[in-house]
Amino acid sequence: MLDVGCGTGRHLEALAGTIPECCGVDLLESNIAYARSVRAGITFHVGDMRTIRLGRTFDLVTCLGNALSYALTDHDLTETVRTFAAHAHGGTLLVVDPLNARTYLEADGFEKRIEGRVDAPEFKATSVSLHELDRTARVLKRTRTWRIEGRADVEDYAEYRLLFPEEVQQMLETGGFQVLGMYDNREFQCTDLTGRITGAPDVGGLRGRKLYVVARKLAARPGGDG
Ligand SMILES: C[S@@+](CC[C@H](N)C(=O)[O-])C[C@H]1O[C@@H](n2cnc3c(N)ncnc32)[C@H](O)[C@@H]1O
Repeated sequence: MLDVGCGTGRHLEALAGTIPECCGVDLLESNIAYARSVRAGITFHVGDMRTIRLGRTFDLVTCLGNALSYALTDHDLTETVRTFAAHAHGGTLLVVDPLNARTYLEADGFEKRIEGRVDAPEFKATSVSLHELDRTARVLKRTRTWRIEGRADVEDYAEYRLLFPEEVQQMLETGGFQVLGMYDNREFQCTDLTGRITGAPDVGGLRGRKLYVVARKLAARPGGDG
């Protein structure tokens, strides 16, 4: 499998028990350096999801933790889907979880302030995220402050592209994928994809705000560009 925008490779670590050949790509050298240092047996590359070409295909391609939402423009998205296709053969499964534009723009998913918490035995922190919404560009902007006991506060900033279910469908179909399932809930219940907020809180405060999408690469058409 190939995990695009793999971060520190935590999903690959979990899946390496059942998937023999695992490979991850991330833009940040620091993420890949950490992943390599703790995840023996998994192959990692520094690379941009819009342009990287590893010269081979995989049976499963994933782009999780809403990494696809880091493709901010239509061009970024098209190029990223091209990358998925370049690493897929007929039958390859693709799993992505972008942010659902409908939740933020049409329902009650947008919250100016969201509190989060990391409560692991070796590390505890709380966070406060302040959000802004650019409705025209369909981009969510987040400034997050981490409070870690005994340390100065740490601030990070991120922008996320919001995608409507129809956009995801069209984008993937244009890239040669057939959407097998799309859900706006972690229970994979069929809904009208309005992204109503359900379920228990999670670390990122994202419950109900994502689209969980499974697609399959169609076989290349004879004479087509694959
Ligand atoms: C929210 S993190 C998710 C990481 C991982 N998938 C997970 O779920 O733990 C998003 C990741 O996407 C990566 N990323 C952002 N833009 C990227 C790009 N253009 N190409 C590759 N990775 C990118 C970031 O470095 C970050 O590690």
